[in-house]
Amino acid sequence: MRHCHEFEDLAHPHAGVEPDRAYYIPFAPGQDPDAPRESSERFILLNGTWRMKLYDRISAVPEEFCQPGFDDGGFSPMPVPSCWQTQGLDRHQYSNVRYPIPYDPPFVPHADPCGAYRTVFRADEALCARRLYLNFEGVDSFYYVWVNGRRVGHSQVSHSTSEFDITAFVRPGENLLAVLVLKWSVGTYLECQDKFRMSGIFRDVYLLARPRRHIRDVGVRTWGCEGYTRAVVQVGVDWAGGTGRLEWQLLDPDGAEAARGEAESDLIVHLDAPRFWSAESPALYRLILRTEEETICLPVGVRDIAVKGRQVLLNGRPLRLRGVNRHDSDPVTGFTISPEQAMRDLVLMKRHNVNAIRTSHYPNAPWFARLCDRYGFYLIDEADMECHGVTEVFGGGDEISYGLLAQDPAFEGLILDRVRRCVIRDKNSPSVLIWSLGNESGYGPAFEKAGRWVREYDPTRLVHFEGAWRQTGGHVNDDSMLHLFSRMYTPPDFVRRWLADPANVKPFLLVEYCHAMGNGPGDLEDYETMMLEEPGVLGGFVWEWCDHAIDAGPAPGGGRRYLYGGDSGEFPHDVNFCVDGLVSPDRTPHPGLLELKNVWRPVRAWREKEGIGLRNTLDFTDASRLVRYRWEMRRDGVPAGGGEGELPALAPRGRAWMPLPCPAPQGPGRWDLRLVWLAARDVPLRPAGEELGFDEITLQEDFPALPPLCPGRVDWRETDEEICLAGEGFQYRFDRFTGCFKSLVWGGRERLSRPMGFNVWRAPTDNDRKIRRVWEQAGYDRAQIRLAGCRAARAADGAAEIRCEAVFAASVRQPFLHCAVCWRVDARGGLRLTVEGRRDPVFPYLPRFGVRLFLPAGFETLNYTGYGPGESYLDKRRASWYGTFCSTVDGEYVDYIKPQEHGSHTGCAGVRLSGQDAALWAAASAPFSFRASHYPQEALAAAAHDFELRRAADVELCLDYKNSGIGSNSCGPVLDPRYALAEEQFRFELALGFARP
Ligand code: GAL
Ligand code: MG
Repeated sequence: MRHCHEFEDLAHPHAGVEPDRAYYIPFAPGQDPDAPRESSERFILLNGTWRMKLYDRISAVPEEFCQPGFDDGGFSPMPVPSCWQTQGLDRHQYSNVRYPIPYDPPFVPHADPCGAYRTVFRADEALCARRLYLNFEGVDSFYYVWVNGRRVGHSQVSHSTSEFDITAFVRPGENLLAVLVLKWSVGTYLECQDKFRMSGIFRDVYLLARPRRHIRDVGVRTWGCEGYTRAVVQVGVDWAGGTGRLEWQLLDPDGAEAARGEAESDLIVHLDAPRFWSAESPALYRLILRTEEETICLPVGVRDIAVKGRQVLLNGRPLRLRGVNRHDSDPVTGFTISPEQAMRDLVLMKRHNVNAIRTSHYPNAPWFARLCDRYGFYLIDEADMECHGVTEVFGGGDEISYGLLAQDPAFEGLILDRVRRCVIRDKNSPSVLIWSLGNESGYGPAFEKAGRWVREYDPTRLVHFEGAWRQTGGHVNDDSMLHLFSRMYTPPDFVRRWLADPANVKPFLLVEYCHAMGNGPGDLEDYETMMLEEPGVLGGFVWEWCDHAIDAGPAPGGGRRYLYGGDSGEFPHDVNFCVDGLVSPDRTPHPGLLELKNVWRPVRAWREKEGIGLRNTLDFTDASRLVRYRWEMRRDGVPAGGGEGELPALAPRGRAWMPLPCPAPQGPGRWDLRLVWLAARDVPLRPAGEELGFDEITLQEDFPALPPLCPGRVDWRETDEEICLAGEGFQYRFDRFTGCFKSLVWGGRERLSRPMGFNVWRAPTDNDRKIRRVWEQAGYDRAQIRLAGCRAARAADGAAEIRCEAVFAASVRQPFLHCAVCWRVDARGGLRLTVEGRRDPVFPYLPRFGVRLFLPAGFETLNYTGYGPGESYLDKRRASWYGTFCSTVDGEYVDYIKPQEHGSHTGCAGVRLSGQDAALWAAASAPFSFRASHYPQEALAAAAHDFELRRAADVELCLDYKNSGIGSNSCGPVLDPRYALAEEQFRFELALGFARP
């Protein structure tokens, strides 16, 4: 193919393509127009096994490949839809910000892989008598279309529908459809989203066989009026091939007729006492349009949206978005997502209290919004537009070159096209509340025009674009057409300060926040607290829903081998930055999703005036209609009673009070009341009885005192290197150079598989990726200990007491920590450690501080009192409660694709690890953290993938004064200092010992 240059043409992005229109599927008269589209007589799906060959450049594609007579023997079967990289062709590439090709717009390299596709379809005389429209719902990134060897046209904008009128190209009998798909095109510059870069015909292809005269486009708008006692439904109809007569019918959500009539084009319906649509009750009317030869059914959600001051109102009531950013991503099918795969996401989202989705960073398949209409999710529908790579030009940067394309008049038409295609296609979905002009593309006249166009075209929704806050390239931004002030990853305090300034008049939207990469996010609750207090915040969208990875088959030890950036030998790549979701690639929830679920629970409770204060976080529903509860009382973590109850009336966003459902604490100890919120009735995708979240109220705080040391005499013997102690049933050896024990023989057996030691390091989490560099500069990863003044003495009760001064420093650097250490050993071998630490504040905060033991294989059964049952951290513990839990060391493993610190428990009073003939127990004088694992921190830090990990037979047990919090600094703000081990002085008192199991 030599004469094809349209893929680098800025002026003619499409040829032979019909004007944009709303998504709908026509049915034949007499058919149920609300049935799945496959059952429409007018819908001919062309998906299936096509024939395809991948060429490495367009000049290598034979000119005749699109001709019926061409011998495609060299072609191979190729499923349509699919991405060719998932079929073993080309190779995978994960890139975030950087363009995979030279920045030379609109040109692309000569070496531009292109897929030549061929398929045939049959047409009879009757079909040929109709208007035939060929629809592609998604092709990445540019394609030419031929029917029977004649060129029909070309198109681009990967995640949008292109419709070609092929009536004149089709003849009775067999017809050849040929498509040439280019991997790189001018569109590549506008599709630099943070994703695996995949190519091909990745969404459905079908024909619509329509009458000569038919409805071309239809638009439905709704408003509430007269205090939301009435509503207006306005429908505009645009015909192709001349106008005709139209019979219409509006069915209410129960299927009863609400109105009917006849019209030619536009119509208006007034509804009394309408049922309004919201994500909490997605009541859908149905509009049925009948022409002489076709029936079209559209779901109609009666709703309106408005901005009043800094509040966004849906149906007149303030709205809160609790959202996630979702990509179309699957480890096997890539960009190709079936309705079943999408439903799996929606079910999980509903069950984790998610009410909104941003279709980051492109429109999903057209049926996706329909699912959100039906099941109740709010959408930010985003245009297929991101040119983030412009920030990477040599000598460029965010402040310098972000506007390169946004401010280039030659690109204006392409940018507007992308926005229009998104808006026009999805304009009838009530779930879409907000249009997004794209993501990370700088700002300039093109976006200002696009925003103005959207406002004018669709006055029933809001417009947002995050890029507008930053000025670049000398352009003075006009953001007057944008309804919202959107930012990403700004800390809660930034939002508060912004809202405190009366000059800022728009609602605030956190379009991305709480970067869910690896172990995290840890800051969900603090953001939520801010949002619950600040009515000017419309809400936020967690980044992001799912990990992106490539499934490379089964892993030897079970599970899958998930690959990320760099694993396919590509350049450039961004390593595991794609593995940053709330669920794993196969949709297994990560602990972060459980955290999110509880942070977004529909009811919040606290202690108030001898009883319980309640707050409903729903916007439209009285919580007492939706939620009942179960209560569980615990004393020192142990169950001490329970029951069930009903909520008092609790208006949307309202507050109420109820008496304590349980008796007041009787006797000393820590008493916790846990109120588990349960779904009182079915809602779409969430059955009655399901847990919606919980609150835990500590009724009495009382931390257990450490057990006293056992009186009696301990003997010891000192050498230059050791202090050897012995007593009833034990012999211990203390190491004069580490300040800890190198051998603990108890009950006649060695109980350490490796020497014990102090520990300030942890396997860095993804959220530690920035502080990690500072930690490494400080030398925390290679800290050495120097012991001074180590002396043993006898205490009054007969115990042995070893005192020393431990100085922590790494090669090159000065000491960062001094500890006065005291170990006492009692007559039965009970140990008591007291550490008084002094941290040099010129150094960064510590990952953790504690002692680390290695216990031999067999210490497998775990019992603890603290925050469980899942992993918990100082700032990431909202999915956990204070209780006594039983687990195993294996059960503590949390599978993060890139291995890292995991499985710790914060706020603990005690832990016990039991083997066959002995148990090790530990307790501290204040809440502490522990971690028990078959994967020591060095092994976790060294592995790039979970499948590289080898389970150690022995057990690493970290007993920590503190393990610093998690945060979300992989992309979000630095860890809040409240959760960091940043104190200059601290005291840690730990008791441990052995017992019979
Ligand atoms: C944002 C961007 C997302 C993603 C995220 C990091 O800046 O909008 O697409 O790249 O950062 O995971
Ligand atoms: Mg980006």
